[in-house]
Amino acid sequence: MKILLYICLIFAYSQVGLSHYRYPFYGLSDDAGTTPRIDQIFIGRCSDYQASHTMEHEVDCHELWMTFSSVFANLDPCKVQTAGYDKFIEKSSVPIPQDGSVFWSGTYDFTHSYVKTVGNLYTLEDVLPGYLVNSLTWCGQEKSPGINYETCSDPQGCNKNNTYDFWAKMSTWFAKSASGSVQVILNAGRDPAFASDSFFAKFELPNLPHDKVNKIEIIVVHGIDGKDNPKCGSGSIKELQSLIEQYNFAWTCADNPGLIIIFTFRFNFYLTYQKE
Ligand SMILES: *[C@@H]1O[C@H](CO)[C@@H](O)[C@H](O)[C@H]1NC(C)=O
Repeated sequence: MKILLYICLIFAYSQVGLSHYRYPFYGLSDDAGTTPRIDQIFIGRCSDYQASHTMEHEVDCHELWMTFSSVFANLDPCKVQTAGYDKFIEKSSVPIPQDGSVFWSGTYDFTHSYVKTVGNLYTLEDVLPGYLVNSLTWCGQEKSPGINYETCSDPQGCNKNNTYDFWAKMSTWFAKSASGSVQVILNAGRDPAFASDSFFAKFELPNLPHDKVNKIEIIVVHGIDGKDNPKCGSGSIKELQSLIEQYNFAWTCADNPGLIIIFTFRFNFYLTYQKE
């Protein structure tokens, strides 16, 4: 009886098709300047993370901020050497538990709520390097105070490229740290559900270690956005399956697997509730 009720509710809510797709691209926003008090946010998140996680090595949060900010602070955005971010990633790197890596594309809100609810699953934004800077904007300038809080949109688009390079490095690191079975969560309501220029296609899938990762579980979520395009084995999902084969990984694919169905319902309910 309860199951039947759930199915009816899931159907009802999937028809509502709420669209919450706030982050089309990692961290990039066109007009914003550096997030105010970014240094305090960064250092605060760093201390908070260490207080709530078991760390293999203690991280000096202030020093880490210096490592990070020295890449862009006091510089013309077009003179930034993004290779400097490698040091930040190295210093903030943490191990990712086996079978715990979750990649997402077009499912930012959904995936982050999902991993929190299920537990023992981690997106890039849940582990220290990503946690520190998730959804922040930053860029530098030559003149004092060395950080541009007004705008990060420069005429040549250097900041945009720097940010892209930064997240490309972060995604690469996250992929290289994966082991066991990994999940990639895609949004069937987005066209295409799997994009060949996504971070997953460009930086994550190519960097998954063959000696450590044994399976890629594709999870296609239906009913987050209004439209409902491909299923496993069709359209862009089929392209992803072939691509994974080219990279010589085993895969599975599931359309709204059981746990996700219940969760989609709860998630849509939560969004509805938040809207009102
Ligand atoms: C930014 O990146 C794009 C794409 O890679 C490139 O074509 C462009 O020249 C870059 N812009 C600058 C100012 O480096």
